[in-house]
Amino acid sequence: MSVIVQLDRVEKRYKDVHALRAVDLSINEGDAFGFIGPNGAGKTTTLKILSTLLRPSAGRALVCGIDVSRRPDEVKPLIGYMPDVLGVYDDMLVQEYLEFFAAAYRIHGEKRRQVIDTVLELTDLGGKRDAQVRSLSRGMGQRLGLARVLLHDPKVLLLDEPAAGLDPRARIEFKELVLQLRRMGKTLLISSHILGEIGMMCNTIGIIEQGRMLFAGTIEDVRKKVRPGLRVTVRLREEPEKGRTHAEAMEILRGHPMVEALKPSEPGFEVLLRPECEDASVLSVDLAGRGFRILHFAEQAVDLEEVFLHVTKGVVS
Ligand SMILES: Nc1ncnc2c1ncn2[C@@H]1O[C@H](COP(=O)(O)OP(=O)(O)O)[C@@H](O)[C@H]1O
Ligand SMILES: [Mg+2]
Repeated sequence: MSVIVQLDRVEKRYKDVHALRAVDLSINEGDAFGFIGPNGAGKTTTLKILSTLLRPSAGRALVCGIDVSRRPDEVKPLIGYMPDVLGVYDDMLVQEYLEFFAAAYRIHGEKRRQVIDTVLELTDLGGKRDAQVRSLSRGMGQRLGLARVLLHDPKVLLLDEPAAGLDPRARIEFKELVLQLRRMGKTLLISSHILGEIGMMCNTIGIIEQGRMLFAGTIEDVRKKVRPGLRVTVRLREEPEKGRTHAEAMEILRGHPMVEALKPSEPGFEVLLRPECEDASVLSVDLAGRGFRILHFAEQAVDLEEVFLHVTKGVVS
């Protein structure tokens, strides 16, 4: 796994505002990194530094090992930056809008036609070629913003609050698009001030607060930090005549060396495993071996709200 985006103790001061304080970050190729923090935390500042628009006051920012403030012209082809506001090109048609940016990237002729077709197809805007940019819904506008930053086929996409203000349907479509981009091998950095909005499409996250990175790691690291043991919810087909009830199953599991605690949780029960246990499936094999019929057996996904509260404890007023 190679590191594709790296920040080393990056600082940014705007006159009297200390916007970033010794921010470290590393994102591996192919990752989707969720950059989460409340308004004013320093997300946009970080993205602008990575996209060569701002210089850090101290520290280094690297994309593919290249220093973004020393060699911006080498970094620009590698990144696609989508700012939080789309900009004012309202009087253009979708096709013209993309032609304009393709020209700015010096993509010409047949190649330009091909590239525009490709990004329109990818973002599912093929039917909107001749629509006015201003007539697009928020969701379509965001997809057009993505189409634009995909024109030059960058390795790294830096998306500032792309899901803000999207309705639930548009958010699902956006998530699908992110997954597709990941399958294409793109690396993504996606910022948001709302946890639930991007948490589930990212495999790694970082939480920034008042210019400090409070935590960064994989979703699994986060879970371990917040909740040392796995939690599993279980539901069985109860067959009281055969002695197979939830209460009975809990009784059996109580003595299991992997189990730390148990509690009823309608309609079944919940098992907390000991921190050293990484594989809960042993328990389901055990239950099935005793004749229990399992309707549901699932590790609980880590709840990002819980993570956020845990990590930012005492920092957010
Ligand atoms: N051009 C600027 N001049 C002065 N202060 C700024 C400027 N841009 C951002 N800031 C300040 O820097 C801090 C971080 O802002 P920003 O990076 O936009 O945060 P976020 O994107 O997480 O909301 C905030 O306190 C903001 O007010
Ligand atoms: Mg911002």
